[in-house]
Amino acid sequence: MDPSTDTLQEPDFHEILTKRLRLRTLRVTDAEALLPLISLESVMRWTSHGVVSTLSQAERWTSDRALGKDVFNFAIELRQHDLRDGDKRPIIGVVGSFHLPSIGYMIHPDHAGNGYATEAFLAVLPQLFDRIPPLSEGGSGFDHLEGWADVENRPSRRILEKCGFTLCEMRPDPDNDIRGASEIAIYRKARPGRTLEELGLLPIDEGSVQSKAPTPPVQ
Ligand SMILES: CC(C)(COP(=O)(O)OP(=O)(O)OC[C@H]1O[C@@H](n2cnc3c(N)ncnc32)[C@H](O)[C@@H]1OP(=O)(O)O)[C@@H](O)C(=O)NCCC(=O)NCCS
Repeated sequence: MDPSTDTLQEPDFHEILTKRLRLRTLRVTDAEALLPLISLESVMRWTSHGVVSTLSQAERWTSDRALGKDVFNFAIELRQHDLRDGDKRPIIGVVGSFHLPSIGYMIHPDHAGNGYATEAFLAVLPQLFDRIPPLSEGGSGFDHLEGWADVENRPSRRILEKCGFTLCEMRPDPDNDIRGASEIAIYRKARPGRTLEELGLLPIDEGSVQSKAPTPPVQ
C-alpha cells in the first residue's frame, strides 16, 4: 500500500439498494476485485486515468477513490448474484465522486447495456446532494454536480441526459494523454430547489466552444 494514503480517512459505510443493484461504499480492500474492470482499455480510455495494469496500481487507484473526507464512491454489485458461504459478490462497476463537483461511473462490459449505470447513478445522486454542503454555507460547498464526458462517449452522455443533467459547455481537449485530441462535453445539474440559471451556470449552445483546457479529471 502506498504510505501517502495511510493517513487519509475511510468514509462511513453506506449501502443503497435499488431494484437490481446493491451499492456499497468502496473500500481500499476492493482493489483486487476491481482489477478485472480497471485493467480494460475499452473502459479506462474514457477516464482521466487510463488503464491500470498491476495490483499495486489498482491499490493506488482504489485508495484515491476510497479514502478522504470528500470521496463518496460506491462499488456496484448485482443483488441477484448468488452467494455461497464466505463469498463476496463480484464488483460490476463503480459510481460516485472523488473530486467534487465531478461525478463518474463505470460498468464492466459484460454487464453493459442493461441500464445498470443509470440505475446506480440515479440512486446515488440524491445522497450526493445531501452530502455536499450548499454554497450558501460558504467554504467548499457546491449547489451543482458536473459530469465530464468525451463527446464521442455516447453512452455516458446519454446517462447524464437521462439523469436530468444539462449540456452546458464543450471544451477542446487537444492534448489528451489517452485519447489524443478530443473534446469534452460538460453537463451540470443543480441541487434540488436551485437552477443552473440562478447559479450562473447557464447552458450554452451546443457547438460553441471555450478555449480553456479542462482542469478537473473526467472520472
Ligand atoms: C458508460 C457506461 C458506464 C454505460 O454503462 P451501462 O450500464 O451500459 O449504461 P446504461 O445501460 O445505464 O445506459 C446507457 C445508455 O446509452 C445508450 N447508448 C449505448 N451506446 C450508445 C451509442 N453508441 N450512442 C448513443 N447511445 C448509446 C444506451 O442505449 C442507454 O440509453 P437508453 O437507456 O436510452 O437506451 C459503460 O459503458 C462504461 O463503463 N464505459 C466506460 C467508462 C466510462 O465511459 N465512464 C464514464 C466516463 S465520463
